[in-house]
Order: sequence, then structure tokens, then C-alpha cells
Amino acid sequence: MNADKRQGQLRRDALERVEILPVEPGDAGRISVLAREIWERHYPGIISAAQIEYMLAQRYEPRLIRAELQRDDLWWDKLLAAGRLAGFASYFLSGQPGEMKLDKLYVHQDHQRRGYGGLLISHVSRQSRARGCSRLVLAVNRSNTNAIAAYRKHGFEVREAAVKDIGGGFVMDDYIMVREIRNVSESG
Ligand SMILES: CC(C)(COP(=O)(O)OP(=O)(O)OC[C@H]1O[C@@H](n2cnc3c(N)ncnc32)[C@H](O)[C@@H]1OP(=O)(O)O)[C@@H](O)C(=O)NCCC(=O)NCCS
Repeated sequence: MNADKRQGQLRRDALERVEILPVEPGDAGRISVLAREIWERHYPGIISAAQIEYMLAQRYEPRLIRAELQRDDLWWDKLLAAGRLAGFASYFLSGQPGEMKLDKLYVHQDHQRRGYGGLLISHVSRQSRARGCSRLVLAVNRSNTNAIAAYRKHGFEVREAAVKDIGGGFVMDDYIMVREIRNVSESG
């Protein structure tokens, strides 16, 4: 088997052992720990250490995740690789007609570039379509080049730049990216 084929086989083997399931209230602690691990490895150089702490506290406290799970316009899903938590996504109805906001998309560094981010985006697209949406929208830091590349690879395009005050003296300096959802059964 040549190197390309072996790489393809490895990707298929990895993907076959992947499940995407709804996050349960009992998962909130593990999601919070996973988010911190990913953020502390990924965001230095993109935002300050103080902003990382501020945003983790604002978004990933277990009690906040559990509160979001109570909402009927917002969903969290987890990705398990060989039974272990490797990533997650959350998304909510933005209030704009036909639009779902992909609010969070994270895959642990040990599992990146195996297609799991793409699987989560496909899953969120199907869930969004089933809930009457035809468009996914997200905000990504303008300096987060790897994530922007991932979103482009999976069909998103930059719509505009946006700066948002998130309190505490911090701003988010983002691109807003958009992806049309073509039909329920699409895989990519
Ligand atoms: C963005 C993210 C969710 C993508 O998940 P993933 O499982 O790696 O995605 P996929 O395997 O489906 O796609 C991989 C693509 O992402 C981009 N990418 C991801 N990691 C990269 C890296 N370290 N270097 C360069 N490109 C990278 C590339 O375009 C890559 O495609 P390629 O492997 O064919 O070159 C994941 O990398 C992640 O969690 N990153 C850190 C947190 C983050 O920025 N999240 C988004 C917040 S808005």
C-alpha cells in the first residue's frame, strides 16, 4: 500500500469509530475540561491569556452549559472517537429567518485533521435543515487561520468582518462566515 492509500485507510479506520450524540447534563464537566485544554493550546498568539480566561468563564462553566441544555432553541452535540470525548459543537436559532448560528466547534488537538470537524459540520447542517434552516452562520477570529481554512474547506465563505465588545475590556475581532445548506442528506 502506498503512503497516500495508507493515509486514506487510517482516516477511514478512525472515522468508522466515531459517534456524534447529544450532550447530556452529566457531560457538562467533561466538556468544560476539554474546552479549557483546547483553548489553552490553541488561542495563545490569537488572543491574550486574560481574554482566554475571561471567555472560558463566560462560556464554559459547567452550570452555564447545563443552563443552555435547558433551552429549546439551542443544541450541544459531542463527538466520541473510539468511545472517548474528542470534540463538540453547539448551535442555536439566530432569530434571522432560516438561519442557524454555529456557536462552537472544537476538536481536540490529538484528533484534528481526521475529518471530525467536517463530520460535526455535516451533522449540524442536517440538524439545522431538519429544524427548517437553510443557512449556517458563524463568527471566527480573524487571526484563527487554521479554523478559517477548515471552514472554507467545508463550504463556508466570509461574508463580512465584525468587531464585538464582549465586556471586561475585551473585543472579538471576527469574520462572519456563511454556508448555505443544500439538502438534508448532504454529507459535506
Ligand atoms: C477548526 C477545527 C474544529 C477543525 O476540526 P478538524 O477535525 O481538524 O477538521 P477537519 O479534519 O474536518 O478539517 C481539517 C482542515 O482544517 C484546517 N486545519 C485544521 N487544523 C489545522 C492545522 N493545525 N494546520 C493547518 N490547517 C488546519 C485545514 O484546512 C484542514 O484540512 P487538511 O487537513 O485537508 O489540510 C479544529 O481544528 C479545532 O478545534 N481547532 C481549534 C479550535 C478552533 O479554532 N475552533 C473554531 C473556533 S471558531
